[in-house]
Amino acid sequence: RLAGPSERVRVLSAFVNALRGQDVAPFELRLPKAGGGHARLQFTLAPILDSEGGVAGVIAIGQDRTEVRELEGQVIHAERLATLGQLAAGIVHEINNPLTSISVYGEYLLSKLKRTGAEHADLKRVERILRSSDRIMSFTRNLLTYARPSKEEPQPVVLNDVVREAVGFCEHIIREAGVAIELSCAENLPKVNAVSEQLHQVFVNLITNACNAVPEEGGRAHVTTRLHGHDRVHIEIQDNGVGIRAAELDRIFEPFFSTRRKGTGTGLGLSIVKNIVEKHGGTIEIDSEVGRGTTVLVTLPCLDD
Ligand SMILES: Nc1ncnc2c1ncn2[C@@H]1O[C@H](COP(=O)(O)OP(=O)(O)OP(=O)(O)O)[C@@H](O)[C@H]1O
Ligand SMILES: [Mg+2]
Repeated sequence: RLAGPSERVRVLSAFVNALRGQDVAPFELRLPKAGGGHARLQFTLAPILDSEGGVAGVIAIGQDRTEVRELEGQVIHAERLATLGQLAAGIVHEINNPLTSISVYGEYLLSKLKRTGAEHADLKRVERILRSSDRIMSFTRNLLTYARPSKEEPQPVVLNDVVREAVGFCEHIIREAGVAIELSCAENLPKVNAVSEQLHQVFVNLITNACNAVPEEGGRAHVTTRLHGHDRVHIEIQDNGVGIRAAELDRIFEPFFSTRRKGTGTGLGLSIVKNIVEKHGGTIEIDSEVGRGTTVLVTLPCLDD
């Protein structure tokens, strides 16, 4: 009863095969947990034979593989990041000088064309060159976040300040997406031990994702901070956007995974976010329903006052 429709078919056919006395390969099920989230259970089925060799029953042994799967995921993630980091450092190094030339001379030409009264179409063309080089610049900067882990030491940080700053920083994109944003900051939160620029990057990425997901009309986002227990803080970013399909939920933290239109998302955002949050001893959970919206919950340890 716990399994979803597609999993139910697999379970049934496994039991039927076992009842027929056939060998059944072990299979894994993703089942909802009482407290939210999912557990992964691996089942091994074997027929029990009676004295005449007929099948008297089936024995099913379930093993909780949730933690193993999570650890596997973390190892894969860490390996990807390490490879990506090396690659990124090389790419950024090669790209930076020519890109700087494009951008500097582009600016020069643009101002000259404006001064000397060039054709409108040509002005637009140069502007496009500059916009494109900006995109490459911001992409390489994102890549660098992997390549060079920040050397800055964590310090006691007032979380609400960073959250407010991040919302302010996103003002432009919030306005463009027409999102009504609500901010509920708990008073007197203990400080967190963090590199504030990195936390800033976390919230900017999450708010940006929310803005990208909401409908053109009536987009809403709610950012909340609150104490959780006595030694953790929760930061929640909730939106009423398109939501994330179950199959995609498993992949959204992968570097370069993006469902956005080609050329608009690099798919690095959440990967960077997860990396930073985990480096700060925190966790990130995403709960989403297609058509309803998405809630991202970041939990961070806080300092004793
Ligand atoms: N709030 C959200 N609502 C719906 N889908 C989301 C949300 N946040 C993330 N996603 C999904 O996860 C994918 C990966 O997100 P991520 O931030 O890593 O990359 P991106 O936003 O596509 O690109 P980038 O952040 O690099 O510009 C998105 O393409 C989108 O499919
Ligand atoms: Mg993003």
